[in-house]
Amino acid sequence: MADEKRRQPDTNSVALGHDARRHLGSLKPPIYETSTFVFATAEEGKRFFEIAYGDSTETSDEVGYIYSRLDSPNLGPAESRLAAWEEAEDAAIFTSGMGAITTVLLTFLRPGDFVLYSLPTYGGTTTLMNGLLTDFGVITQSFRSTDTSADLETMVGEHRLAMVYVETPANPTNELFDLEIARDLAGRHDARLVVDNTFLSPVWQKPIAQGADLSLHSATKYLGGHSDLTAGAVCGGSDDIARLRHTRYEIGTTPSPSTGWLLGRSLETLRLRVEQQTRNATQIAAFLAGHDKVSRVSHLSLLQPGDPQHEIYKRQCEGPGAMVTFEIEGGESECFRFLDAMELVRLATSLGGTESLASHPWTMSPPTVPAAEKRSIGVTPGLIRLSVGLEDAGDLIADLGGALDTV
Ligand SMILES: Cc1ncc(COP(=O)(O)O)c(C=O)c1O
Repeated sequence: MADEKRRQPDTNSVALGHDARRHLGSLKPPIYETSTFVFATAEEGKRFFEIAYGDSTETSDEVGYIYSRLDSPNLGPAESRLAAWEEAEDAAIFTSGMGAITTVLLTFLRPGDFVLYSLPTYGGTTTLMNGLLTDFGVITQSFRSTDTSADLETMVGEHRLAMVYVETPANPTNELFDLEIARDLAGRHDARLVVDNTFLSPVWQKPIAQGADLSLHSATKYLGGHSDLTAGAVCGGSDDIARLRHTRYEIGTTPSPSTGWLLGRSLETLRLRVEQQTRNATQIAAFLAGHDKVSRVSHLSLLQPGDPQHEIYKRQCEGPGAMVTFEIEGGESECFRFLDAMELVRLATSLGGTESLASHPWTMSPPTVPAAEKRSIGVTPGLIRLSVGLEDAGDLIADLGGALDTV
């Protein structure tokens, strides 16, 4: 294990977490589609429970499994591969990105705690921060990328800051938040820094190396990468991940064996996919930036020196990713004409898969976010969010150009 930890993530994401000798020589992990596991003896059942619920350092993989809501053999490969990618001590996977986020919030927050969260965040996260979380007595407050350390300290005031929650780049606008400011703030208050790393994936951003306690994902997106699974993931220190696994047992945010298997499989090709998607997105962003029907394009490759966002990009990102947002001259009806005219790019709300998808955040996000707030975070009726896939960049540009001609 010590040697494995020293290897590059590209090696670990293919080789880690599966020992063929323990699975009848099967090169790939078999899928254990079972809800429960048979104990050889009552004494063994007792021991497994002691390990699962006690503070033993042994893992289920070393000892044995009990019940698939607690853990199953198909979660380990994905978890160890992802931990290697994120340069984290450990990782845990969940039913969905929201399942991962909810498990983190329930584990580390208590009534009266104060949470500062970046805005924009994915609509479901914003809704949770403003809704259910506050119903449980947690005090939440959003902040913008332009807020300084002093502004954030003023927001904290006399509150008991327990968590700084940052989604960077933010969905859907690609706005970057400065992790150095967030890390220092969390450090001064002994709070946890939690980063949603969904948009860039560990190929382009490693929040833990930059001082985050936890880096989380909607693994439905780039980590899964094929639009064929729904999952979430959290990476961090062993103690925090052990606590998250316990909450996962309790509330049942454990993914199915087949989801764990698909995710482990997908991590083998993470870099290949993300790098090619990023090359395609960079070409598409340049095309859109020069198009007369497009008034604004946001892709991290277009950031220019002198822009504070460029400063942040240089410091904390290793590549621009494959999410492009752009504004079409006009508004909702022009966007709808454009979206309906595309033939190759599909109209759907997810992202990070092999196929390119476009969506209209103004109308295709939770209705709980009021219009004025959407405008204030840069989501306008003319905005399109494009998740760039693995198709040929020339074909994609032809499709987008043809659809723009109809506007
Ligand atoms: C940045 C980000 N975080 C979290 C989520 C929630 O993930 P899931 O849909 O897997 O629950 C999403 C979903 O789109 C997202 O884009």
